[in-house]
Amino acid sequence: MKLRAVKGTADRLPADQPRWHHLLDVTSRVLGRAGVQEITPPVFEFAEVFERSVGEAADLVVQKEMYTFDDRGGRRLTLRPEFTAGVLRAYAEHGMHTWPSPVKLWSHGPAFRAENVQRGRYRQFHQVNVEIVGSPAPVADAEAIALFVDVLRALGLRGVRVALGSVGDPEDRARFNAYLRDALEPHAAALTETSRGRLRLNPMRVLDAKDPGDQALVAPLKRPLDFLNPAARGHFDAVAACLDAWGISYAVDPSIVRGLDYYRRTAFEIHAEGIGAQSALGGGGRYDGLVAQLGGPDVPGIGWALGIERVLDALDQAGVARAAAERPQLYLVAMDDEAVVEAAGLARTLRAHARVEHGYTKRAPGKGLRDADRAGAVYAGLLGGRERAAGVVQLKHLASGIERQVPFADLPALLAIEPSPSDPDGFAPTAAATASDAA
Ligand code: HAM
Repeated sequence: MKLRAVKGTADRLPADQPRWHHLLDVTSRVLGRAGVQEITPPVFEFAEVFERSVGEAADLVVQKEMYTFDDRGGRRLTLRPEFTAGVLRAYAEHGMHTWPSPVKLWSHGPAFRAENVQRGRYRQFHQVNVEIVGSPAPVADAEAIALFVDVLRALGLRGVRVALGSVGDPEDRARFNAYLRDALEPHAAALTETSRGRLRLNPMRVLDAKDPGDQALVAPLKRPLDFLNPAARGHFDAVAACLDAWGISYAVDPSIVRGLDYYRRTAFEIHAEGIGAQSALGGGGRYDGLVAQLGGPDVPGIGWALGIERVLDALDQAGVARAAAERPQLYLVAMDDEAVVEAAGLARTLRAHARVEHGYTKRAPGKGLRDADRAGAVYAGLLGGRERAAGVVQLKHLASGIERQVPFADLPALLAIEPSPSDPDGFAPTAAATASDAA
């Protein structure tokens, strides 16, 4: 059998790297300016960290989506299905409640869920995750949402939909769940098996049913937003007022229920068109009580995560230009055996100034120039007996075809020239150079 990557995982090839780096650079800049610091939790944790946090009614648990295994020491470990639990475990472990509050943390990396694979839904996927821990104030919720929008805007993505809802306080959820049970139990036989299971464990999640029959049954029912106590309602209105004041558009979505159980009050999602059925770029909400559940102090918090693959897909669909790979500035071609090691040595020296590659083997000039072109180089530099004798490289600017002989000593300065918009390759031939070319 041919060995292949596991279903639901993917290789990120060299050509994919620039846009990933760009996404993370932009994210780091936007979040960094808001004082959000980076934290890198481990990829796996004790299973208990997730079992205690995501809740026993979460899809991750109900649908057995967690990659949990015993290691050789008999420890039950889980590959993280999300970041929140690990980040909050770290918050508690490192006593971050003594830091200036709120503590704002962001992370990125792979997460793992044993889900049914489809476009936008993978088994190893990647998230950018943000947590703002320590503030109960609605302005923290609004800022978290605004930061998500800022990241997407800075990436060039327009026209996303922010859906804002609230799942209320635990007692609101309990009342709403009781209401749903009463309303839906008489129709239980007509529901899909998934929804029947949800009705038993966490009725709210029936609202998320994809099946048209289930959807028709829940359509006339009340929503979590109809069950908010006055304080939770006030909180929701205050979050909305902040977003209004900052000119961040959103739509109130009374139906938002999230797949994880730890949410309290604010719940939100950001969607994009054109990326298939899995249109959520990300989502999050408030999770007061969760830090305490993980053994830390009882501090409130709010956060979100975006799916990097989905955001990249949305950027492609929106026609946003992909960040391009860096090109080699110079590709050295050895025209005789002696020049092979010489070219490699020269490349080593010149790498202090620019990206320089070479061909590892002797090449005829025509073939060498083709190699340089395939490598995407700005310049090809030919090295052979004549050049060696004269202490020069025969330099060809591949886009214009202009050639000139450049002494070894002049190469660093030439390669260090910053390309300008009118001369993107940094090769505006000077009058002198053109004259000597002609000579
Ligand atoms: P989540 O909604 O489970 O929230 O995931 C956030 C985002 O991760 C989704 O909207 C989606 O873009 C991406 N995602 C999730 N599962 C997959 C998958 N199987 N394949 C590809 N992308 C996926 C959380 O993870 C919460 N921890 C967010 C949060 C942080 N809440 C508070 N703080």
